[in-house]
Amino acid sequence: MSQSGLRQTVPLKTGWRFLRGDVADGMAPSLDDSGWREVRVPHDWAIEGPFDRAHDLQETQIWADGETQVREHTGRTGGLPHVGKAWYRRRFTVPEAWAGRRVYVMFDGAMSYSKVYVNGEYVGERPYGYISFYFDITDYLRVGEENLLAVSLDNPPYASRWYPGAGLYREVQLSVVHPVHVAPWGTYVTTPEITDERAKVSIRVELENASGIEQDAELRVRIVSQEGEAVAQLETPALVQPGLSTHRLEGEIARPKLWSLDSPHLYTAEIEVVAAGQSADLYTTRFGVRSIEFSRKDGFRLNGARVEFKGVCMHHDLGALGAAVNRRAIERQLEILRGMGCNAIRTSHNPPAKELLELCDEMGFLVIDEAFDEWRIGKVGNGYHKVFDEWAERDLRDMIRRDRNHPCIVMWSIGNEIPDQGHPEGAETARFLTRICHEEDPTRPVTAGFNQADDAIKNGLAGAVDIVGWNYEHHRYEARLNNHPDWIMYGSETESCVSSRGEYYLPVKDARDVQWPSLHSSAYDVEAPPWGCPPEYELLQQELHPELLGQFTWTGFDYLGEPTPHKFAWPSRSSYFGIVDLAGFPKDRYYLYKSVWTDEPVLHLFPHWNWEGYEGELIPVHCFTSFDAAELFLNGRSLGLRRKAKHPDDKDGVYDGGLGWPFTRYRLMWDVPYEPGTLEVVAYDNEGKAAMRKRVVTAGRPAKVELVPDRVVIRADGEDLSFVTVRITDVEGNLCPKAEHRLSFQVKGPGEIAALDNGDPTSLEPFQNTTRRAFNGLCLAIVRSQDGATGAIELTARGVGLETATVTIRAE
Ligand code: GAL
Repeated sequence: MSQSGLRQTVPLKTGWRFLRGDVADGMAPSLDDSGWREVRVPHDWAIEGPFDRAHDLQETQIWADGETQVREHTGRTGGLPHVGKAWYRRRFTVPEAWAGRRVYVMFDGAMSYSKVYVNGEYVGERPYGYISFYFDITDYLRVGEENLLAVSLDNPPYASRWYPGAGLYREVQLSVVHPVHVAPWGTYVTTPEITDERAKVSIRVELENASGIEQDAELRVRIVSQEGEAVAQLETPALVQPGLSTHRLEGEIARPKLWSLDSPHLYTAEIEVVAAGQSADLYTTRFGVRSIEFSRKDGFRLNGARVEFKGVCMHHDLGALGAAVNRRAIERQLEILRGMGCNAIRTSHNPPAKELLELCDEMGFLVIDEAFDEWRIGKVGNGYHKVFDEWAERDLRDMIRRDRNHPCIVMWSIGNEIPDQGHPEGAETARFLTRICHEEDPTRPVTAGFNQADDAIKNGLAGAVDIVGWNYEHHRYEARLNNHPDWIMYGSETESCVSSRGEYYLPVKDARDVQWPSLHSSAYDVEAPPWGCPPEYELLQQELHPELLGQFTWTGFDYLGEPTPHKFAWPSRSSYFGIVDLAGFPKDRYYLYKSVWTDEPVLHLFPHWNWEGYEGELIPVHCFTSFDAAELFLNGRSLGLRRKAKHPDDKDGVYDGGLGWPFTRYRLMWDVPYEPGTLEVVAYDNEGKAAMRKRVVTAGRPAKVELVPDRVVIRADGEDLSFVTVRITDVEGNLCPKAEHRLSFQVKGPGEIAALDNGDPTSLEPFQNTTRRAFNGLCLAIVRSQDGATGAIELTARGVGLETATVTIRAE
């Protein structure tokens, strides 16, 4: 429990009772739930599995994918048992000290159709599983007694296009406050004028006065820098009527430290409410001092300097951990994405966990906060369109009120590929939603991702938003730019390249909708669905059209569900779109982005060099590099120097690998007659000097297990994680690129295995297990600490015929 003395926040993490299914009196205090399972929240009831095609078998026609008939689809929502009802119950004692105070229960998200009860009485409900919401439950509580919070949830079938998760998958907490207090999400901090000398800070505070009488109050705001220094003091008297009232304060920060991507400085506004001469509330909110501008000529500017969106779209699941929010797991995703130069996230296609926004604030990422995947017309039978009319305004306002102080957010997105694009009334809805965004936050532009571009233009939807996002329009950017000289545009969703890490298939062809019998997609990163393309096409268009703001590629990480192009075949239960696989291991194209998006030297050679049975056959060898030229050697013999093409007709030292332009601009290629040994690539700088080398060797027999934790010290709080990469290597330590040994894991000490994964989208092994096969030489063990238990956690991994490995992680 955190306690400022004035405002108490009580996280409800442990002690929940959970029942999968329904009971008529699930809310009744008299109900005996002692036999229910005890769970910790955030909790995702479906991630334990088992995987089964029966869980989401769908006879359907996906219009957006261009399907022309109804067909049986599998794995669309991950093949996990998320559909159905469940109950969560949590008892808590209300101490005498809470008498006379107001108590809110805050849900960061509940999947879905939640109904909330306190002491058996219905409090309220919220259909949208991604929205944060709260209720004032004071009048339902019994002071000095045990109280019962009960939540029923219901995930209808055909309600999602991806794995939505299930349950109380985000944090739940109680807020206990004085009757005169800052309303939940009741602050709005902006910095309308910024110079080197000073930043003007404007703070709007919404006060709730639940005392029933007018109060003579005062607001005192202290602005504190990240270093803990008070940099400004603001005050205003406030006569506070019962109910809600709005108050404004203005002040200045001298020599402000700006929030930027390299140095994301955050300030905290500590808002003290003084009522009847006494301190009543202390509410804190973080914000950043930064300016954002968008223009057709200069693109997106942060603090006056142009920044290109090097963005990815991300769904919310955390792979093997499911949808249950875990701060460290999100932070790891962002660290991995940062490593390839990514600077922006589109929270496709729903409001994200608050933890994601906090981390983006802290780490310096830009965010498009997206509200909806459907408006009035559905994409799936029981999607958001069922509740749009009743809830859309409320959900959108709540999303913005919760999120608008985050400096990371630069645009609000009102929708993704909304089928209403095809209807003239769609424009009215677009204007309605845009107006709401402007009312709640006039400082950020509103966008949407359009995939039926011609319709969106003709019907006026594209004209209704401030910034136009195009999904999969790389081949038409030029026409769009020419036809709409005033519009500001970007690629809101791009590429959708599909691949499975380590699965290299021949011949290498730039092809659409390839359905290999293995149910994988080729790791050469040349395949995509009919509407998509390999990354090179989009990267080229972005280079050619600097007036675009940049792009958000689909997707940063693989996610559960939507196993395009293997959506008709089982087992395949997660996406192939990720630049990084579900376990967090980069696929080869990670280094393509890195070579374009960063200034770091990049030299990445693939595929592996274990092609037993292919002796003498030509194996395409590709290289993503930041250098313009490189030479390849096989067992010391040169296979020639290759250069990147500068334009489609540039043939000087260019080999097109059968792929041609624009691949030749971004990758170097050779066809190499296979013989085992060492491939070495040497990159040359502009003076022709060898600048960097990389080797890929034919690995010997699998001999041992290697454990590489991302962190060896974690917090002993029952939440912190160490992600341990498990490599199967030969005696020399070379990765065995085809190894698929079953590994078994054991933990000693104050920790546990939270989940195992290997990034294989066709694996039906449960994530919560103690054994798992390696996939192309790699496996991932996620080790979690235990609450309050410090000491050494020892993780051991064994496999038949392999030398065992042990690693120690300290929980502190
Ligand atoms: C887009 C859609 C995404 C995802 C993607 C797959 O059309 O917006 O949610 O389905 O296609 O390529």
